[in-house]
Amino acid sequence: MVMKPTKNDSLNTNISNKSTILVIDDNPTNLSLAANALEDKGFNVLIASDSLSGIKRAKFACPDLILLDILMPEIDGFETCRRLKTDEKTKNIPVIFMTALSDSEYKVKGFEVGAVDYVTKPIQISELLARVNLHIQLYFLSQKLEQQVEERTKKLNRALQELQKSQLQLVQSEKMSSLGLLLAGITHEIKNPLGFIAGNLEHTEVAVEGLIEYLKLYQETFPVSGKIIQEKAEEIELEYLLNDLPKMLSSMKQGIEKIQEISRSMQRLSRRDKKKKVTFNLHDGIDSTLMILKYRLRANEYRSGINVIKNYGNIPKILGFPGQLNQVFMNLIANAIDVFDEVTDEEKKSENFTIKISTEISLDSQEVMIKIQDNGPGISEEIKSQIFDNLFTTKEAGKGTGLGLSISQQIVEEKHQGKIFCESKLDQGTIFTIILPIFQDNNSQLND
Ligand SMILES: Nc1ncnc2c1ncn2[C@@H]1O[C@H](COP(=O)(O)OP(=O)(O)OP(=O)(O)O)[C@@H](O)[C@H]1O
Ligand SMILES: [Mg+2]
Repeated sequence: MVMKPTKNDSLNTNISNKSTILVIDDNPTNLSLAANALEDKGFNVLIASDSLSGIKRAKFACPDLILLDILMPEIDGFETCRRLKTDEKTKNIPVIFMTALSDSEYKVKGFEVGAVDYVTKPIQISELLARVNLHIQLYFLSQKLEQQVEERTKKLNRALQELQKSQLQLVQSEKMSSLGLLLAGITHEIKNPLGFIAGNLEHTEVAVEGLIEYLKLYQETFPVSGKIIQEKAEEIELEYLLNDLPKMLSSMKQGIEKIQEISRSMQRLSRRDKKKKVTFNLHDGIDSTLMILKYRLRANEYRSGINVIKNYGNIPKILGFPGQLNQVFMNLIANAIDVFDEVTDEEKKSENFTIKISTEISLDSQEVMIKIQDNGPGISEEIKSQIFDNLFTTKEAGKGTGLGLSISQQIVEEKHQGKIFCESKLDQGTIFTIILPIFQDNNSQLND
């Protein structure tokens, strides 16, 4: 909208004598009569003696009001007004018709095509000035109101965006702190008994080895034992037992090591971020996340298992908030698993579901790139344009909140000055790419 300097701030204020009025009339006598009267009152007056040049002048000069004759050759006043009202530049300028046609039908038609008022010919100067004054005041007032509405709307939109952002941060930190507390609690509870079992298992292994050696020595020294001893040996299948016991112990040790690894991952994931960024090994973060999500990757009664193919490059540690970045990996990998869980087509349920995770460093060694790719159903263009929107989800109620990607975008782009984007092809799959600068400024603070 074209804004004029508004000296007329209220209805009581006088009109600026620099307001510009365009008079369009093919009759030179009328034209000069109206123009002179307005100029005498201090208005800036522009004139045009036919419709086309009138429209041109209106577009070019954007006057504050147009006085328009109805009866003109070629294009009459009604059509001229219609054209002015369809042009973005001139549609808001008030038009007052000047008409010798006293028939009310013409007056009604004038209002229909967008005029705000009319004056009858022969023109009464005092009436003309009164009407011109009134409509210019109304014009300025409506412009001012529009401007105020525009400003307020902008302010409200800004406030709304801020509110949504802080809500998101709140949800994010609440989500993280409750997940973190849960993980920290579980890790704490299982850590001691786990250490106890692991430690004892070492001793048990040595003790069992000693016992087996002792038994073998006994058998060699006294090859002929009593009947009861022989019967017992057969009952407990001593030969197999002696053979299997070390193997059982070794698989128990492997199991315990696995649980300890999970416990360490949980501990890593539950660690609260410091206020300042710290150096962080992204591969540790991705591995810990995969470890926690492992139970969701296995085959279940609805679909076959999901293969994870890792292709880690030689990337350096980056400066960042590990807890938040782990949350991004969690959101993206969980989304990929979700799409496989949602497969309903019976034939596709036994497909080779794959999640590929790759990392690499950029050629200029300034950034690292992490790609999380699935061979799921892909995302349509229409949905793709909304996936990073706050609260956008295609999942049924209770299954998705629509926060995962918007939170991830905020973490990557605002907290780490990075980029996250999505490429997808229907029936082929989806790739989420995260680009993180290695040397980020450490000024961004964590808002808890
Ligand atoms: N790998 C993917 N393949 C296909 N669609 C995806 C994929 N990742 C995300 N989407 C789409 O993007 C939408 C938004 O994802 P987002 O993670 O923000 O929310 P959500 O997973 O629905 O819920 P939440 O993560 O809050 O539990 C999803 O509902 C889904 O439609
Ligand atoms: Mg999600």
